[in-house]
Amino acid sequence: FFFLTSERRAASRGDKQEQTVTSYASKPFRCEVSQWDSDEPVPRAELLKGIQGAHGLLCLLSDKVDAEVLEAAGPNLKVISTLSVGFDHLAIDEIKKRGIRVGYTPDVLTDATAELTVALLLATARRLPEGVEEVKNGGWSSWKPLWLCGYGLSGSTVGIIGLGRIGMAIAQRLMPFGVKRLLYSGRTAKPHAAEVNGEFVPLDTLVSESDFIVVSCSLTPETQGMCDKSFFSKMKPTAVFINTSRGAVVNQEHLYEALSSGQIAAAGLDVTTPEPLPTNHRLLTLKNCVVLPHIGSATYSTRGVMSALAARNLLGGLQGTDMPSELTL
Ligand code: NDP
Ligand code: DGY
Repeated sequence: FFFLTSERRAASRGDKQEQTVTSYASKPFRCEVSQWDSDEPVPRAELLKGIQGAHGLLCLLSDKVDAEVLEAAGPNLKVISTLSVGFDHLAIDEIKKRGIRVGYTPDVLTDATAELTVALLLATARRLPEGVEEVKNGGWSSWKPLWLCGYGLSGSTVGIIGLGRIGMAIAQRLMPFGVKRLLYSGRTAKPHAAEVNGEFVPLDTLVSESDFIVVSCSLTPETQGMCDKSFFSKMKPTAVFINTSRGAVVNQEHLYEALSSGQIAAAGLDVTTPEPLPTNHRLLTLKNCVVLPHIGSATYSTRGVMSALAARNLLGGLQGTDMPSELTL
């Protein structure tokens, strides 16, 4: 869904509704709200039409907010609030140039996303989807010593790429499984890494020494395509690769080669390029690749809190007051 909001008093028309906003605003004020009332993404043409003259936009990570959208909006637009912590779908330079403020949803989804990452890691390493499938298709003939064996966390080395809010929450959840060494890489060493005995290492060291690699960094020009042929060639053949950041961090063709040739053991992806991943994509033919439909933050309570925060950010931006989570541009 998206909101286009203006502070002008206007008559209700079409899909626009005039509303008095009191619950999240510091003082009641009237605004005209135009809502894309569907779980499906707003078509680009509708977005370009609907945003004209708007003062605010509440968008999803599937809405690409680029120069074209900003041009269509015109000079009224003063705030963009995204229902996500990732903001790679926003043309930040263009937004900054126009003096538009941006709200996002950090922290409130950290626990849910870290939980999902751990679930995906265990499902991938212990081959849960394969096991479930074998039970259903009659492949379960008897208990066999090496059937459906995978890899365990106890005594392992885990490497986290991007020990930010979510990366740290993943580390905190993985350490109690008996992880022996926790490596991390990023642009800067993190003082909070001490809580999980994290060792700041160059990316190459992390890649070659880890039994589990978890990608939890943001998508930037620097991280785009970072997990490529050379990256996978340095991994142990028994290592498991997990990505819950953004699909574009991974070169999926190179990942396919690494998985199908046995260069690495398995991969678990919550994010892909594109999304949705076409059902005939080669990655989906592999038993050692577990793909989820971008559900990292998908708990009812988390999405509720994210929505409320995104609404508060929007209203703060419209009123020119503090936004609870404003992105520093
Ligand atoms: P943070 O900003 O707290 O963490 C991002 C981390 O990325 C920082 O630690 C940063 O390190 C690191 N990073 C940046 N550049 C690089 C680099 N070149 N190499 C390695 N690390 C780098 O964000 P969050 O933890 O809150 O969120 C992280 C990302 O997770 C989001 O941007 C989003 O894309 C994704 N996400 C996915 C979800 C899902 O549903 N699957 C749900 C929520 C988020 P440094 O500080 O050193 O620059
Ligand atoms: C985000 O917030 O960036 C996620 O990808 C969805 O919650």
